[in-house]
Amino acid sequence: MIKVAFYDAKAYDIPSFEQHGALHDIQFRFLETKLNADTVALAKDCDAVCVFVNDDVNAQVIEQLYEYGVKLIALRSAGYNNVDVQAAFGKIHVVHVPAYSPYAVAEHAMALLLTSVRRIHKAYNRTREFNFSLNGLTGFDLHGKTVGVIGTGRIGRIFIDICKGFGMQVICYDPYPAADSGLSYVALDELFARSDIISLHSPLTNETRHMIDADAIENMKKGVVIVNTSRGALIDAEALLEGIKARKIGAACLDVYEEEADVFFEDLSGHILNDDLLSRLISMPNVIVTSHQAFLTEEALNNIAETTVNNILSCFNENGMCENELCYRCGKIEQCRKERKEKCF
Ligand code: NAI
Repeated sequence: MIKVAFYDAKAYDIPSFEQHGALHDIQFRFLETKLNADTVALAKDCDAVCVFVNDDVNAQVIEQLYEYGVKLIALRSAGYNNVDVQAAFGKIHVVHVPAYSPYAVAEHAMALLLTSVRRIHKAYNRTREFNFSLNGLTGFDLHGKTVGVIGTGRIGRIFIDICKGFGMQVICYDPYPAADSGLSYVALDELFARSDIISLHSPLTNETRHMIDADAIENMKKGVVIVNTSRGALIDAEALLEGIKARKIGAACLDVYEEEADVFFEDLSGHILNDDLLSRLISMPNVIVTSHQAFLTEEALNNIAETTVNNILSCFNENGMCENELCYRCGKIEQCRKERKEKCF
């Protein structure tokens, strides 16, 4: 029996993990709390922890887990910026779910974009009150517009295909361009200057943190629509708000937010929100916020549970390799993972 402390458990996670765990003698201990230095003790007698995007798996937490004898950190997300993989190296294996449904995220990005530019969110509220006026609902065609896609990995490429279906012109930026893709890659500055819509699909790294800052916004077209379904910290939210107030940014569609950790995924409707910046953004008529929801489809939830359970099984199989391991052995996590045929250490 493999015992797994499952942090930040939500009602929609539990059925698929219970189902897949029961097939393989894996016992999940579902915990509502997030993993951090204060809650790490809840994993004391477990073999592994299963974490999501807002669990704080820093070096201190990793050291404590290591002392408890925890052997595996199983991320049930693609992004892993919240885990200090370097600190875990040599002590605890780290696995993630590289792709569970890139379609879910790419389709959500387009859903946000369409909602925003066709004012669907406003129309929905109006017609519920029998207000059938069209004043103020004028949108614009996506057809013929230029979309700048930052990050042409799994999700970015699907979003590009969707945009092409709408007859949009696509330009891209990625420091590691996809070979033979036929995509039109440009420098980041050029992408900022030419795009009517900018959609972010790169991971959060030291290089990408605040890649959308005041200077970048200054460089953009007036009226640009920014879509972020990747990680909140790609955008300097203060600069975004200033850009909106200055009427430089036409609209922002945000599924992620830099300071989302204590807010998103929770029902705070009866509380005073302690984040003035988020409150201000949400109050803007041209900002749509969803609560890190892009991944949330039935297909994705099932794939996440299935892949996580397989990852756990493979890591506890002494002879095998650790499926989907994030290895820091040579300091380049992505490349190392692609080349290896055995466990990281
Ligand atoms: P991926 O690894 O397939 O693609 C990421 C791409 O970003 C790669 O092509 C990489 O070369 C590129 N990249 C790396 N550094 C860059 C830089 N400095 N500038 C621009 N591009 C750069 O990842 P995938 O599956 O497409 O996911 C992308 C991101 O989406 C994840 O890192 C995660 O943060 C986010 N995500 C959000 C979800 C949500 O529910 N909102 C769910 C799943 C992922």
